[in-house]
Parts: sequence; C-alpha cells; structure tokens
Amino acid sequence: MSSDDGELETSLEETEEFEPPEAFVEQANVTDEGIYEEFEDEWPECWENAAELLDWYEGYDQVLDDSNEPFYEWFTDGKLNASYNCIDRHVEEGRGDEVAIQWVGEPTEEDDRAVTYEDLLEEVEAFAAALQDLGIEEDEVVTLHMPMIPELPVAMLACARIGVPHSVVFAGFSAEALATRMNSADSEYLVTCDGYYRRGDPLDHIEKADEAIGSVEHEVSDVVAVNRLGEDGPEADLDADQHDYESLLADHEGAAVDPVERDAEDMLFLMYTSGTTGAPKGIKHTTAGYLSWAAWTSHAVLDLEADDTYFCTADIGWITGHSYIVYGPLALGSTTVMYEGAPDEPDRDRLWEIVEEYECDQFYTAPTAIRSFMKWGSEYPERHDLSSLRLLGTVGEPINPRPWKWYYQHIGGGECPVVDTWWQTETGGMMVTTLPGAKRMKPGAAGPALPGVDVRVVDSEGDEVEGGDAGYLTVHKPWPGMLRTIYGNDERYIEEFWAEYSDADAGEWVYFPEDGAGIDDEGYITVLGRVDDTMNVSGHRIGTAEVENAAVEVQGVAEAAVVGAEDEQKGEAMYAYAITEEGQAETDELRERIVASVEDAIGPFARPQEVVFAPDLPKTRSGKIMRRLLEDVANDDDLGDTSTLRNPEIVEEIQGQASAN
Ligand code: WTA
Repeated sequence: MSSDDGELETSLEETEEFEPPEAFVEQANVTDEGIYEEFEDEWPECWENAAELLDWYEGYDQVLDDSNEPFYEWFTDGKLNASYNCIDRHVEEGRGDEVAIQWVGEPTEEDDRAVTYEDLLEEVEAFAAALQDLGIEEDEVVTLHMPMIPELPVAMLACARIGVPHSVVFAGFSAEALATRMNSADSEYLVTCDGYYRRGDPLDHIEKADEAIGSVEHEVSDVVAVNRLGEDGPEADLDADQHDYESLLADHEGAAVDPVERDAEDMLFLMYTSGTTGAPKGIKHTTAGYLSWAAWTSHAVLDLEADDTYFCTADIGWITGHSYIVYGPLALGSTTVMYEGAPDEPDRDRLWEIVEEYECDQFYTAPTAIRSFMKWGSEYPERHDLSSLRLLGTVGEPINPRPWKWYYQHIGGGECPVVDTWWQTETGGMMVTTLPGAKRMKPGAAGPALPGVDVRVVDSEGDEVEGGDAGYLTVHKPWPGMLRTIYGNDERYIEEFWAEYSDADAGEWVYFPEDGAGIDDEGYITVLGRVDDTMNVSGHRIGTAEVENAAVEVQGVAEAAVVGAEDEQKGEAMYAYAITEEGQAETDELRERIVASVEDAIGPFARPQEVVFAPDLPKTRSGKIMRRLLEDVANDDDLGDTSTLRNPEIVEEIQGQASAN
C-alpha cells in the first residue's frame, strides 16, 4: 500500500457519512428528495409509479384493495404476464439482439453463453410448449431444483408464460428438503439437472431428485433433467417419467406460445423460507405486485437502465436471485450477469475478472462475501479495471462500517454509491435503503425506509422508540411486493407476521418482520438481526428448529438446541448442543452422525460448525429452552441473568464442555 493509500484509509476510517458521488447523481434515475413527501401525500396511488414500469393487457381498477386486511390486494383486476414483461416487449421494441442473460460457467476453458432477448424468447416458448405437452395446467406448481445455469431462468419464465407458479428450491438443499417442499406445494413436476461444477469439480445433483421422488407423498408425474455436465455427468434412472431438457426443446423448436393473461393477484411463484417452526413456509408472491416491486426497486435503488450490464452474485435459489437476477433486471430490459460457481475459482479475482470483461455497471453482493474479499486483500480487485462500475449494493445481513468502507474504496474506487438494502423473502424486494442519487450514506446503517414504505422501530409495546434507541422493526402500511399468504395456511400467515403488533379491533395492521433494529435522529435504520429462532449463516437463513429436528433423529441423541454465535466471516456460525441418551457415549463419531443428519435433512450449507455435548439444556421453569444463554456460551460472553432457570447450575457445566472442545 502506498502512503497515499494509507492517508486515504485513515480519512475513510474517520468519515461517518458519504454524499452521493456527483457523477452518479447527474445521471441517476431518482435524484429528487421530494419523492419521500410526494409518496407519503399520494399513498397508495404513488405505487402507480411501479405499475407504470410494466405493460398490461388490461389496466387495474384499484391500486390497493384493503377490504380484507391483512389479505391485501394490489392493482386489482389488472391483467398482465410476467414473461411478456421480461422478454417479448423488449423484442417488440427492436432490442431482440441485446443480451438478456450473460451466463458465465465456472470452468474457464468453456465458452460463456450470451443469451439475447430473442434467444430467450425462443427457448422460453419452446420450453413452455413442452411443459404444456406434459399436461401441466395453469396454477399447478412446478418445482425447479436447479443450480446457476441459464435453463433455470428459462424454466421460471416458461412457467410464468403459461400461468404456472414455480417453486425454486436452492440446489444446495438435500433430497429430503426438496421432498418436503414438493409435498407442501403439492407439486407433481420437477425440473432438475444432472449436476454442476463447484470449485472445479463436477457435482452429482440428479441423485437428489431420485431420492426425493421416493419420499414425495403424491405421484410425481414428470421430471425434466438438463444435461449440464455432458460426459462428466452421472446417469440417472428415475422412478417418474424422465425427460431430457435438450430433446424437449428440440421437439418444440419454433413453437409459438402466447403468454397467458394473468390476473394481477394470480400467484407468480412460491419460495420456501425458514421460520420459527420446523416446517418451512411457502411464501406466496403475485404477478403484478411482486413484479412491479422488483422493477421499481431495481429502477430506483439499483439505478438499472435498459443498456446496463448488471451483476448480482446471489443464487437464484434464494429470493435475491429471483428479484434481482431474474425479474427486476429483465423487466427493465437490462443485461443480467449470472455466474455458476465459486468466487475463488480458479483464483480470488474471478468476480473482478467478470466485472472487467463484461464492463458491469452495477454489482450487488452480500456482506459475508465482502468480508472474504477484504480478508483476501485488495490485490485481487487491483488486478482488474473496475471503472465501468457505477453502483454497489449489499444485502442479506448487517454490514459493519469497516467492510462497507473497504467495498466503497477498493471495489467502487470511492466513486460509486453503496446501497445497503434491507428486505426479506416475504417483502419481495427492497424496503429500507438509501436512494443512491438522493440520500447521504451512513456506513453501518441501511438507511431510511424507501419512499411510500412505512417502516418504524418500536419497543415491545409497539410504541415508536426515540432516535438513538433500538427496538423491533415494523411495517405500518402494506406495499405491492408483499407476500400474500403462507401457501395453504392463512392462519399461520396472520400468526407469524401480523399477530405481534396489530390491533385488529382498531383496524390497525402492522407487519412484523422479526428483526431487531436501531434508528437515529434522521430515521436511518441499522438492522441488528433476527429476533426469532432463525440464524443467518453466510447470508443463508436457516431455522434452528429444522436443524434441531435433524439432530434428534440421530440414534443416541435425546435432545438438541441450536444457536447462532457471532462469527467474523459468516456473520453467524452454528453451534449445536446435544444431550445424549442414557448409556450413549459422547464420541466424535456421534458428532459426525449429527452433522451428517443435518446435511441429509437440509443440505451441507446448514452444517453446524460445532457440536457440543451437554448434560442438559438451560430451561425456564416452564420448560422452555433459554437460547440466549446458549448463545452467550457460544459467544464466550458473560452470562446474563440465570435466576429464572429451573437448572441454573447447568450453564457452567455446558461452558466447561464447550471450551473443552
Ligand atoms: C437479514 C434476503 C441487515 C434480515 C433478502 C432479514 C439484513 C433476513 C439485510 C431476510 C441488511 C437482509 N441488513 N440484515 N441489509 N438484508 N437482512 O429472507 O435479518 O433470505 O430478516 O432475504 O436477512 O433473509 P431472506
């Protein structure tokens, strides 16, 4: 590092606020701070601004229908199609030759694939025709268990085209997790692939489909498998009717499939996420509300334009990939870059090589990735010309000022605004972040709520806290991108999201995202993390109950409790406390069986970092596990009040065990 750099580092360290860079503001999509007041005055009609980004077959009658709270409806009676909005209209505008999806495979010796809007239209129509030929009807859920290959967005858009909701299951999920999700969604169709590359090695993927089909409670009628690995790939002989993706495409080449007119409120997709109980919840998103939200936030926050090339490193198997690799960028007609593999394959500059090669305008990633980049060192980005970048974003977990500033300086060259975006699977898209062309940035704080979004920080009574204090995040007005329900479980929808702070009798409905947060005098919000029993490990949201269920399935384990401990790299690291049955020895072999069971039930990404044997778990007098104390043990923190425990002596014993590991 030169001495100039050193001075820059020091002055950056002391800076707590950053103005939006002038060059950025000059060209930004939104620059007028008046938008906050305007949207407040004109709420809910302000959301016509989002609807206007889409093309409609029939206009809507009403922006918001709140006659059946909290089952809100948006843009009622409007008719549209998401696939048409993401593809056809750009082709009709004469932009068919422009690249829609720039796919980059992990192996460097292989050619990257540029899918133009015209190519995308052809492939989506052919696959939509194939799905129809299999007998799939409107509103039947199709499950997509696929890695980061272009066939995944093609399949999503083919589903959207024919009015079939998709349920994408992250490729890292195990066979058992896949089966649970197919059961919950009554999904009879599965699209998968033979395998994919990860850190240079081909990975078998289709064996999970094979195993999952055996555990699905209803008949799985058809499975489509993409051939990603060619000769490197495994052979599979599945129980269900198996179709090869390539042959289906060839059989339907040139097919014309008109996009189905979908009602604004028709389901676009389901996305399963973890909650407090062991059963993952199917979050239902709709065609108009979700798509307009993805498009509006991409426009206002990511500053996306049709001629931009934009790179988001998320996986499409999670909500960030849905909203900000597929639907938002394609609705706006931009080029979305999609990378198959690991950020350090073959070397730690892979992502920067991609930014340079495709001259990316925006880059959107997670704090856990930024912490890795920082640890690897600035020499990797320095090998590349990153001057095409004009905006940086982060999502998924809180980002501390230090990695924020590193990102700002070493990736953005001090010239790109950084948007720290808070949102969730349930919100469909961004909710809290600075508008990059209009608002000052404060590293560590995501920012104020977006215009027209009523996010507050309240105490346990539901009263707003003063600036400088902390409490719970709440949302006091509905928004178009919101989830509509938990699939097949309206009661749980109310219970999980609306019960805590609403006053139904008074007609006051408050959405509770289950995050803790602080707020400053200017309304900037610092999100602190989940207050329910879910963990955030490397940006993956994992339910403690799901992991605990898997741990107690192991023979010899009587009881288990799982908590997230602070971890510099991953945000949170998972600690599993296990109590063995009488006569069961506390061995490493048992630890391994616990880990294996979690991998089977959920996937390797949910593997506990430590398994600690405990004589008992700290419990309240009513028998509830005191997770907070287990977290303190995992964090090596001073233990708080243990007087309400039925068994206070146990905590010290566990502490002893944990440090002996
Ligand atoms: C956390 C990911 C702090 C939060 C889009 C939320 C964040 C959960 C941020 C949702 C952020 C997301 N700052 N925390 N900018 N963004 N979170 O459903 O706890 O996978 O509730 O959606 O991630 O995770 P999910």
